[in-house]
Amino acid sequence: MAIPIRFLTLALVILSVLLLSSSLGGVTAKETKRSEAEVQRMYERWLVENRKNYNALGEKERRFNIFKDNLKLIEAHNSVPERTYELGLTRFADLTDDEFRAIHLRGKMVRTSDPVIGDRYLYKEGDVLPDEVDWRKVQLFRSKIKETVGLNKIKTGELVSLSEQELLDCDRGGNSGNFGCLGGNAADAFEFIIENSGIVTDKVYPYTENDTAACKAIEMVTTRYVTIDSYEDAPHNDEMSLKKAVAHQPISVMVEAENMKLYKSGVFTGPCDHWYGNHNVVVVGYGTTERGEDYWIIRNSWGANWGESGYITLQRNFHNSTGNCGVAIRPFDPLMKGVLRII
Ligand SMILES: *[C@@H]1O[C@H](CO)[C@@H](O)[C@H](O)[C@H]1NC(C)=O
Ligand SMILES: *[C@@H]1O[C@H](CO)[C@@H](O)[C@H](O)[C@H]1NC(C)=O
Repeated sequence: MAIPIRFLTLALVILSVLLLSSSLGGVTAKETKRSEAEVQRMYERWLVENRKNYNALGEKERRFNIFKDNLKLIEAHNSVPERTYELGLTRFADLTDDEFRAIHLRGKMVRTSDPVIGDRYLYKEGDVLPDEVDWRKVQLFRSKIKETVGLNKIKTGELVSLSEQELLDCDRGGNSGNFGCLGGNAADAFEFIIENSGIVTDKVYPYTENDTAACKAIEMVTTRYVTIDSYEDAPHNDEMSLKKAVAHQPISVMVEAENMKLYKSGVFTGPCDHWYGNHNVVVVGYGTTERGEDYWIIRNSWGANWGESGYITLQRNFHNSTGNCGVAIRPFDPLMKGVLRII
């Protein structure tokens, strides 16, 4: 039996409405309806996983409200289909942006001296660089997830994870108010190492994340492991030169990291400011995803419960020479003494 034409029309209209609404559902952020009890359970689980204890009266409830706001932001971001990266409940999920900035970022970097810019990593036409580099795969790289100054010994194929705790504890001087658990300024840290005639490895002086610990009286003379003569900058504002530098060794850089608070995985594309850095990290490699997204591999100091086991991949080949989040503005290049003392 033939279907009357107006029924067919009606069916088509209904079908197209259904199709339209389902495609709209894919484009707009889908509202995740979680019950308060479910969010509360997520919070409790997160508190345990991150070993959080709040002492102040009402603090747990206050933090819960911030946690809920962050969760909303995470789910809105993750429901956008074209996103290149995912957000998640990192260890900072109970902090507002203002608190995060105050506690974990050092603020805009202020130049205290004119940098010396070396040209050994200056990219020149015709330079052949590997398509991919990942220093995490180098056997002797100690992959403990924390920030190091990124010093290393490439000539012997050996990479050394240096004691950041020593920097945290001891590098308190200077009018730049350097370090502590704030982002820190790699140049100041290098100056500290030079003045102090070196720095010990983290095996001797382990990282405890304790910013209040007093500078420990360690027998520096016997534990001194590696030292640097001086440092200079790798070429500024040039991602090709940064690529060349990273092909030779991990490189310290500053990035603008405010919106990395809840970063979980994927290629971070911002939003972030690209004209200054407020957080010190180390570029340990680069590559390109199967989808063709170029990225830097960056080692952060925020622990393994953040990002991709403590790392972030950041968009590479940005439209501005600063690099995205300012990654290429001012890379640091420590110059090492020729000989490593093995203890
Ligand atoms: C950090 O070090 C200080 C001083 O040594 C000590 O009083 C405090 O208990 C330590 N904190 C942690 C979390 O270990
Ligand atoms: C790159 O960014 C800087 C800082 O925002 C800006 O002054 C400059 O005009 C930008 N350059 C290009 C080519 O977009």
